[in-house]
Amino acid sequence: MKRARAYVSGLGYYELRINGKKVGQNVLDPGWTTYDKRILYSTYDISGFLRPGNNAVGAILGTGWYGSQTFILQIHLEMENGEEITLITDDTWKSKAGPVVSDSIYNGELYDARLETPGWDLPGFDDSGWKNAELSISPKGILRSQMLPPIQIMNTIISRQIMNPKPGVYVYDMGQNFSGWAQLRVSGPRSTRVRMRFAELVYDNGMINRENLRKARAEDIYILKGGEEEIYEPRFTYHGFRYIELTGFPGVPTLDSIKGKVVHTSVSQTGNFSCSNPLLNQLQKNIIWGQKTNLHSIPTDCSQRDERMGWLGDAHLTAEEAMMNFNMGAFYTKFINDIEDVQGKNGTITDTIPFIWGQRPADPAWGTAYPLLCWYMYRFYGDTSILNDHYAGLKNYVDYLIDRSKENLLTYSYYGDWVAVDKTPGSLVSAVYYYYDVLLLSKIASVLKKSEDKKTYMKLAEKIKSAFHKRFYNMETGGYGPNTQTANVLPLFLDMVPSSEKGRVIQNLVQNIMYKNNTHLTTGIIGTKYLMEVLTNIHSVPLAFELATQTSYPSWGFMIKNGATTLWELWQNKTGPGMNSHNHPMFGSIGSWMYRTLAGIRQKSESVGYKSIIIEPHMVRDLDHAAGTLLTISGKIHAAWQRTGGSVKLEVLIPVNCKAEIILAKGILRNIILKEGNSLVYAYNKFKTGVKGITMVDEKKDTIVVQIGSGKYVFTLSGE
Ligand code: BGC
Repeated sequence: MKRARAYVSGLGYYELRINGKKVGQNVLDPGWTTYDKRILYSTYDISGFLRPGNNAVGAILGTGWYGSQTFILQIHLEMENGEEITLITDDTWKSKAGPVVSDSIYNGELYDARLETPGWDLPGFDDSGWKNAELSISPKGILRSQMLPPIQIMNTIISRQIMNPKPGVYVYDMGQNFSGWAQLRVSGPRSTRVRMRFAELVYDNGMINRENLRKARAEDIYILKGGEEEIYEPRFTYHGFRYIELTGFPGVPTLDSIKGKVVHTSVSQTGNFSCSNPLLNQLQKNIIWGQKTNLHSIPTDCSQRDERMGWLGDAHLTAEEAMMNFNMGAFYTKFINDIEDVQGKNGTITDTIPFIWGQRPADPAWGTAYPLLCWYMYRFYGDTSILNDHYAGLKNYVDYLIDRSKENLLTYSYYGDWVAVDKTPGSLVSAVYYYYDVLLLSKIASVLKKSEDKKTYMKLAEKIKSAFHKRFYNMETGGYGPNTQTANVLPLFLDMVPSSEKGRVIQNLVQNIMYKNNTHLTTGIIGTKYLMEVLTNIHSVPLAFELATQTSYPSWGFMIKNGATTLWELWQNKTGPGMNSHNHPMFGSIGSWMYRTLAGIRQKSESVGYKSIIIEPHMVRDLDHAAGTLLTISGKIHAAWQRTGGSVKLEVLIPVNCKAEIILAKGILRNIILKEGNSLVYAYNKFKTGVKGITMVDEKKDTIVVQIGSGKYVFTLSGE
């Protein structure tokens, strides 16, 4: 045989089997889409599965997000003699109910091993007792190749501790909150019913606390067939958890009886951040775990309760962090297509994608995900095709917002600065995002050389800016709206504050953080994302650092001190019923700030794909070292600084075809020595020219700027 390919999809979820073996490594396949618009299929080279003579092809079906079982398969064989054979699914296929008695993403799986039919997927099986498959009416979506990394089992976690809070109740602590399921190993009498229930929390008495799962039952039940050791893993569900409660187990389970399987979209990790502060290292770890375990073919808000939706606000607020930590290009390309799929003729999009929860039209702050994710794709990966492909959709969306606006203000809002400690009116938040949307569209038009549109939207953006200031600025207080952190941070971030008022707004912001709130943030998911960036921009990195390392409520450190291994949904430590997920990635937006500010790696504002890099590490007093690595579309960027005695060693790696500016605070800096050849780059206010690799050295008021090309550099910075 020359070639053998299988093209396969099944809603919701399938496992393709050939001659007794599962084909491929994908689980929970295909990725979730708006099925009436688009259905994804996977392609496999199945030549290794086929054998001469008879072959058996079959599938196990689940219900997934679709809610019922459908399956479509096409196999193409190209024989050595040029003959081509095509096999397709039709009603000559045979079907029978199997051991997966029920399956549900939220509720889990019931697997009755007594119902297994040995050999059903092997050649020679007698299927005469099976009934013909029914032709189903498929959803209207077009079948398209799945172009994003599939969901796979990414890791196995073995618990280090089993608790036995009550007779017959065993609770495994996996030590980490994650998404996936458990593999069970068990032997015992036929018909024994073993139950695994999943939870993020435990009560003091060691029993699992599932109050925050709301209606999700999150339990897998396995009924033994009896005999040899049995190994079971569910196929068509996943849970978000740290603890597993095992009941009904025959005998006493061991650490080996349960293994945690980490399941999420198989994006590769591209970023690393570390520093001398253990709390920030733990924060980075929580961000990584929270982010990856909320990638399930869409970016989900949470991984455990009866939700797991693609909320657009959460999606764009975490996107920069995600793009630094993981290779997200294909993932967001797919998700941006998903946004397009829900767009109405009138331009509206929805709060969640696919649209299940929330509203149409989306809250403006949530809907900004459409232009903003496109823009991030352009900035991070240099992808102009995404801007092109979606330009009509983006314009349609922004034009809808313009229609809804009055006197250049768009004020409808549902969520505002979601889960903030100090509330900011939703109208203010929406008005800012309206400006952002129009501004982004103008920038995108500029990239695409649509100069008319660029001008039109830029002009409108200017008008929105002044309307915003007029409506929300309070001359008396010198702040916006109720003078909350978020109310002042948003216009500062987008440069919407007239220069005459900037000082007052900044002062308000800083005083609010330091004095009114005793160095705490009070922001929700929106303010938090921009607060850290703004503090860096206004030269208040030490204050930002204090917020980042704060350990009393509300802070990231408060979560970590209370045992968080992924970030929570709320700043509060709640463990009761209702909305308080313990794995919500949205506050992980600080991740991009750690790379940009502490490791000091960012792009110049006009750069795309990291062609023009800025290395500006902020060597805050309480840190001894910080390092960041980003595997970008241009190559690997690395910056690491470390205090050694009276000097600082700075290592920088810049990829080929890229250039960089190293920006160093002047302070007491006297000497910059490039290690190679021990060349002095800068000494006592004088620059040395002609040092290999250094294209220019420039002195500004507070900084020294060293321009370099690609390569590896090691500098020593010293004050003597
Ligand atoms: C989700 C949030 C989301 C919000 C919007 C919640 O249920 O978990 O993360 O952004 O709804 O209101």
